[in-house]
Amino acid sequence: MSTVSPLIAGNWKMNGLTHSLDELSELARLLTTGESPRALVVVCPPATLLAAVAAQGASSGIIAGGQDCHREPHGAHTGDISASMLADAGAQYVIVGHSERRTNHGETDQIVCAKAEAAIGAGLKPIICVGETEAQRDAAEAESVVSAQLAASIPDAAEHHEVVVAYEPVWAIGTGRTPTLDEIDEMHNAIRARLVDRFGLSKGESIRILYGGSLKPQNAREILGIGNVNGGLVGGASLLAKDFYTIISAV
Ligand code: G3P
Repeated sequence: MSTVSPLIAGNWKMNGLTHSLDELSELARLLTTGESPRALVVVCPPATLLAAVAAQGASSGIIAGGQDCHREPHGAHTGDISASMLADAGAQYVIVGHSERRTNHGETDQIVCAKAEAAIGAGLKPIICVGETEAQRDAAEAESVVSAQLAASIPDAAEHHEVVVAYEPVWAIGTGRTPTLDEIDEMHNAIRARLVDRFGLSKGESIRILYGGSLKPQNAREILGIGNVNGGLVGGASLLAKDFYTIISAV
């Protein structure tokens, strides 16, 4: 079983205006006045708040991350943002291949892989998301779908650079439903096995595998206590400092 240190990342998605930085200040206060967290704490706000989160979070150890990046380093891509722009704004991580990007923007595994490669090229650590739909789970295809996504979405460059994998069952995102603890355990063990197959024991065990999908203060301790769960990717519950801090404190 991997003994990598845990990481908890908050994905604010398309939520957050300037006043949301008050929640960040509250999170910073909780992190610096309470017991020091065991987990690395990453906050991925919308791009408009990235520089502010990076600047404001630094003194309390909060690390800023982007929510997506383009696969090209620069050019005529109106409305997009490059990995180096995220790094320039202070990001150290970037989420790629979130199911909302895969579904709403037609991102394939190949696109996700190219984005992860671009992130690594800009000095960022990609958080590469995978996860099955409810129909795929019902058809007993969850593990094969996730294995195929892993194989095609993680670039070879991961062998020599830090990447993070986030397992987010699509049907658990924002629904209040989660897989059972046994199902999470099985899937994370399967992901670990795929990583070890591809990158060898030492590298394969060093890659963090986060769980995401309706992770809440109420279920965080149980889910984050599973062997190959090395942290979480938190949506809704990362918007309130108090809830996010409770999840961070659960590891
Ligand atoms: O990336 C995190 C996310 O998709 C999970 O969202 O709201 O179910 O925690 P939520």
